[in-house]
Amino acid sequence: MTPKEWSVHNSDGDHRVIVTKALPGTRWLDILVSAACRVEVCTSEDVLTVGEIKERIGESCDGVIGQLTEGWNADLFATLASAGGTAYSNFAVGYNNVDIPAATAAEIPVGNTPGVLTETTAERAVALTFSAGRRIAEADRFMRGGEYVGWRPALFMGTRFDGGTVGVIGAGRIGAAYGRMMVEGHKMNLVYFDLYPNEALEQYIADYSEFLVAHGESPVTTKRVETIEDLLAVSDVVSLHTVLDETTHHLINAERLAVMKSDAILVNSSRGPVIDEDALVAHCRTNPEFTAGLDVFEDEPAMKEGLADLDNVVIVPHIASATKWTREGMATLAAANVAGLLQGYPLWDSDDVLPFLSGDVPRAVPSIVNATELSIE
Ligand code: GLV
Repeated sequence: MTPKEWSVHNSDGDHRVIVTKALPGTRWLDILVSAACRVEVCTSEDVLTVGEIKERIGESCDGVIGQLTEGWNADLFATLASAGGTAYSNFAVGYNNVDIPAATAAEIPVGNTPGVLTETTAERAVALTFSAGRRIAEADRFMRGGEYVGWRPALFMGTRFDGGTVGVIGAGRIGAAYGRMMVEGHKMNLVYFDLYPNEALEQYIADYSEFLVAHGESPVTTKRVETIEDLLAVSDVVSLHTVLDETTHHLINAERLAVMKSDAILVNSSRGPVIDEDALVAHCRTNPEFTAGLDVFEDEPAMKEGLADLDNVVIVPHIASATKWTREGMATLAAANVAGLLQGYPLWDSDDVLPFLSGDVPRAVPSIVNATELSIE
């Protein structure tokens, strides 16, 4: 295995912090250096193995910013704790790569980066929805392949969104933002499935509906459904915004795909294993009118056999949060999590994390997922 390359910043700093991938922007580094950290950044493109991370942590390490591509398991947290580590942050809002009970057992707080991905990720889900439904990637390949011989009445006919039904599974921040974009932009009716009602979302759409009616347009509706099947049966578009855990693994399987409309669009910008990808390949093969837009894959970075051959699937490489503003914001929040923990700051008491992104950095820790378990206030 080729040895990885590292760069070191503020080499005389008091706290040793390891960052397992180079991060976008510079504010994150300024935050760590201002907190008297010596910052060691892996500048190689390849993903570090658990063994390589353990080796780098070594005998003494105060904190780590890690990546969703790394399996932060009990072994890694025990290594970090024995090295004196007291802070970890994922460079991601999702943390299915982190064994939270193991981190808690090692008394290591785990940070994540909510609040800067919401619109960016929802916008990408919208882009995938339209790419799939209006066959953008397929038509692009057709043009580049020199196959266009002139306008035809039935060339690449796709889905009309206006007035249709959009189904959102997981109506948290990102799911709700996506739902609003589809309702406001395209006058779709929304159905959603979530363990909890999203009253703010329902009220927003009710108000928007009144606005439409006042302008002589048809109303739009929202409905929280009891079962996933209820949602799948009526939706023209289904977008997945759940976390990945044992309850959502293969949430979309062959049986549930069979409940969907034969010409529906399925979009996944959550985590790959939420869909049984083999079942999706089989479904898309036998239902050519069905389309899918995937940002994430079950065995990422690999794709299940046959997926890449399907014209009715749009595939992009886990880039839903990839805008400069969001990725720099994520880096800033991850750094503020680690720096804040090392400086003994309290938890930030609001969902609005924008104050961390410019000006003086608040003397607080933006987001810790096991804060309650570790009695961090
Ligand atoms: C990206 O997938 C994230 O969870 O931040």
